[in-house]
Amino acid sequence: TDKITIAIDGYSSTGKSTLAKQIAKHLGYVYVDTGAMYRAVTLFAMENGYIGEGFFDKETLVAGLPFIKLQFIFNPDLGFGEMFLNGKNVETEIRSIAVSSFVSQIAEVSEVRAKLVEQQQAMGTEKGIVMDGRDIGTVVFPNAELKIFMTASPHTRAERRFEELKAKGQPATFEQVFQNVVARDHIDTHRDDSPLRKADDAIEIDNSHLTREEQFAKVLALIERL
Ligand code: C5P
Repeated sequence: TDKITIAIDGYSSTGKSTLAKQIAKHLGYVYVDTGAMYRAVTLFAMENGYIGEGFFDKETLVAGLPFIKLQFIFNPDLGFGEMFLNGKNVETEIRSIAVSSFVSQIAEVSEVRAKLVEQQQAMGTEKGIVMDGRDIGTVVFPNAELKIFMTASPHTRAERRFEELKAKGQPATFEQVFQNVVARDHIDTHRDDSPLRKADDAIEIDNSHLTREEQFAKVLALIERL
């Protein structure tokens, strides 16, 4: 059968990446986590002192964009690509609460989005791709054959992210994680450029009360129906 493009969007910590990876593995497709790209640009901005508590030098970041090289390098043990920023594996650093607290400000910058969207579209030219993010069904692949929009209650999502961080030994309190989830959702849904919203033709999955297996089965059924 012909390869398709699958776009998965939704609020933070709705389990998009877990579901996307599972589908990609099942279909033998490429999985792309676009959040990792926004996170890597954020890490770059932090390391260079362009953003921090109470300040953001947007102009200097924009001027520095040509010096940011983002690559997904396939890790066969994991079964998907890991994020490399200028040749360095940054998978651990980009998941920190510090990066999470600045990433939505970085993602508001149109020049940043334009650069990343172009790279994302280039990765999808052959189809056979599962991409997750906030604007995949609306901006990156408006013609995707299957669009999923994931939601869950903020409490459920904060709980998940908190457990995830704890498992990775990343320090954060539940309150910090909860505040971060709520703050990011607010910025992501209210920004001018490519705000997070459900594409008209996307299928919404509220997974507050669904197991991973149930979500996976739902999406497989949708794919079979195409
Ligand atoms: O998916 P993840 O939670 O890692 O994304 C981190 C942040 O990156 C989001 O909160 C959002 O601000 C930004 N993002 C975006 N567009 C995407 C993917 C992520 O604006 N396609």
